[in-house]
Amino acid sequence: MAIQSKMIDDKNFTKYLNRHEIDAAVQALASRLNTDYEGKQVVLVGVLKGAIVFMADLARHLKMDTEVEFVRLSSYGKARTSSGTVTIIKDIQADIRGKHVLIIEEIIDSGRTLKFLYERLKQSGPASVEIVTLLDKSSKRVVDVPVKYVGRMIEDQFLIGYGLDLEEKCRNLPDIYYLKYPN
Ligand code: IMP
Ligand code: MG
Repeated sequence: MAIQSKMIDDKNFTKYLNRHEIDAAVQALASRLNTDYEGKQVVLVGVLKGAIVFMADLARHLKMDTEVEFVRLSSYGKARTSSGTVTIIKDIQADIRGKHVLIIEEIIDSGRTLKFLYERLKQSGPASVEIVTLLDKSSKRVVDVPVKYVGRMIEDQFLIGYGLDLEEKCRNLPDIYYLKYPN
């Protein structure tokens, strides 16, 4: 049996948000963005790999002129907690000067990854930079980073599914689960 289905069958995971609850959070965020960015040129900067599912769903609800870019940053490796050092593995290709940048993340924990990216993108002369996250573990924050758009505030739990991985697996699960017995 595949590892993913075995883990779920063994009940190491409990459902945390189902696809309908996720969809409601995504639509609420999109509706705020459609109001705030009406008539503006927006560049979505998705943080690989975790943000892909959220970004694909969010982008399809947006009505303004929207470009799609990705960055890949490394700070965690296979560990479940942040090592604290961030490096760029893949940078954006677009010129963001004068455009409105929205950093798209699926979850914020310590905030270190985003702080680094936020400061870096601001240096390229965009009209604005804001952060959009589906989930925010705000109690875990160790650096100050302005997160304007939050889908759901969550407690400190290790989550998988909808882009969130456990050692690179489970990103494709349509619902979000939390790990019952972390080790
Ligand atoms: P931060 O720099 O500590 O805020 O780390 C944020 C990144 O860590 C997220 O973009 C995720 O890729 C990863 N991460 C944080 N919490 C979780 C979790 O509960 N499950 C899976 N990945 C997580
Ligand atoms: Mg991420």
